[in-house]
Formats: sequence, C-alpha cells, structure tokens
Amino acid sequence: MKGIVLAGGSGTRLHPITQAVSKQLLPVYDKPMIYYPISVLMLAGIREILVISTPADLPNFQRLLGSGDQFGLDIGYAEQPSPNGLAEAFVIGADFIGNDDVALVLGDNIFYGQGFSGRMQREVSSLDGCVLFGYPVKDAQRYGVGETDAEGRLVSIEEKPAKPKSNKAITGLYFYDNDVVGLARALEPSPRGELEITDINMTYLRQGRAKLVDLGRGFAWLDTGTHDSLLEAGQFVQVLEHRTGVRIACLEEVALRMGFITPDECLALGQKISKSGYGDYVVAVAKAAGA
Ligand code: DAU
Repeated sequence: MKGIVLAGGSGTRLHPITQAVSKQLLPVYDKPMIYYPISVLMLAGIREILVISTPADLPNFQRLLGSGDQFGLDIGYAEQPSPNGLAEAFVIGADFIGNDDVALVLGDNIFYGQGFSGRMQREVSSLDGCVLFGYPVKDAQRYGVGETDAEGRLVSIEEKPAKPKSNKAITGLYFYDNDVVGLARALEPSPRGELEITDINMTYLRQGRAKLVDLGRGFAWLDTGTHDSLLEAGQFVQVLEHRTGVRIACLEEVALRMGFITPDECLALGQKISKSGYGDYVVAVAKAAGA
C-alpha cells in the first residue's frame, strides 16, 4: 500500500500564523505537525509516501523531510496549485499510486492510542473497498459524519450535516483499493467547487464496500484547526510525553521500531540534532536498542 499526506490548503482559520508558513509545518509541542500523520502511515507499515502541498510550501517540506531515506522511507512530492478538494489527491497522485492500494492522511490530523499500529495493519491486509475511521466528538456538525446500524455497519455518510445522525466524526485517515483513482477522476466538483472525499466514500458505501472502524473513546484524535485546538494539541502531547518519558510521533523512533532503520542509523540521526531534547531522546532510544 502507498501513502499520501495531503498538506496543502491556505490555513485561513489560523491567520496570521499561516500567512508565511504552512499550517502542517507549525509546531505541535516538540515537532512539526506533519510528523504526526507521517508516523501514522509508517505505523501502518507504509514506506512509499507522497507529500502533496502548495507550490509555495512544497520546498519547505522537502527541506524538512528530504528523500525520506534517513527514515527508511521513499518520500516524493507533488503540487496542488489550489485547494480543489481532498479527493484531488488521487488525481494528482495517480502515477505514484500505480496499481496499488492507497492510504490518505490529512497533514493536520493527530492520532494517538494503544494498539493503533496493529489495528491499521490488520485493516490494510484485509482491505476490500475502503476503510474509514470514526471517532466520537461533541461537535459532529464540523466533520464528515458516519451513521451505523445496530450491528455497527456503516449506513450513511454526510459532510458537515446541520443535524448529525450520530456523534461519529470520520477522521482524516482513509484506506482505499485502487478503484479510488478512477472514482476520483470521474468526480464532478461539489456546489462548493471541490472534489469531495465524501462523494468517493458514498460510492464505496453504495457498493457495500465501505467499512467504518470505530476508534472509540479510549483513543485520541486531535484537531489543529483553530488557535485553541492547535495549542491544546501541543499541550496534550506535552503532558503525555512528560508523564511517560516517551515521545509521540518521533519519526526516528518509529522507523527503528518498524525495522526501517538500524539502531546505529537511529543513533546517527539523533546525534545530528543532539542540541535539542528531541535529539537526546533519539540518541537514548538508539542506545537502548543496542547502538
Ligand atoms: O479532519 C477530518 C475532516 O477533514 C473530515 O471529517 C471531513 O469529512 C473532511 O471533509 C475534512 O474536513 P475539513 O473541514 O477539515 O476539510 P478542510 O477543507 O479544512 O481540509 C482538511 C485539510 O486538508 C486542511 O489542513 C487543508 C488540507 N487541504 C484541503 C483541501 C480542501 C488540502 O491540502 N487541499 C485541499 O484541496
């Protein structure tokens, strides 16, 4: 399975912070926001990743992540000249996807919870159609919303409904089989002028091939869309990291634990940034693993 991180858009809800810097490069406590969704793809076992962003912001992502080789990844880059909708990722990324399945993750989504990696890997290996991930929220009208029947099967999806039929927001992580490329190419823009991911998900739903995995309340799915939620996400990460001594979405550590890099390679990455507490952590993780 290939992976796409969609990290474009104009970040207008965070102006003036995002007037000169891409939203997905803003710090969430100790690391850039895009580290979080990249770690999600890595934990799903995905190593070939396409980062899509605006022509102005793309060079900054390249400066940060390079070829991905340092993390045992293969990272490519593609431009989305204007925010024409989430589903445009599959049109822009069609050559990259080739004949593979693909995961899309939004560059501003943060996921955290025990067993997430194994759960994603099981969904990747049993994929038939599409897999969406639902999370209970109190303000469901701000999101795509999934409605399930008594057996937990997905029966409807609505984008930002005025009267949500459930409290299950559909998060910004989506797994698709290869049909998604053809579906995205055939999409008509919605009344708001975008290629809507919800329209794609509805097609899979009508075919009986859309699954909603309930992440449940023991899990954390965090928003970074407003000044408050961005700060709160940083505070959440800080509290957890201080309490446990373990860092969330540390790409060097994830690469090591997934077997993408060796302890010695991890050590070298940590030593390069050893003036920061983050770098010290990477060094300690590498040494504990035998470097
Ligand atoms: O975060 C989950 C939600 O993401 C889902 O529940 C919704 O169903 C889905 O439509 C989406 O809703 P948002 O209101 O968050 O979409 P937004 O237009 O804000 O885009 C999400 C991110 O993707 C944002 O950081 C900007 C980026 N983006 C967006 C568009 C439309 C792009 O990179 N390119 C785009 O064309």
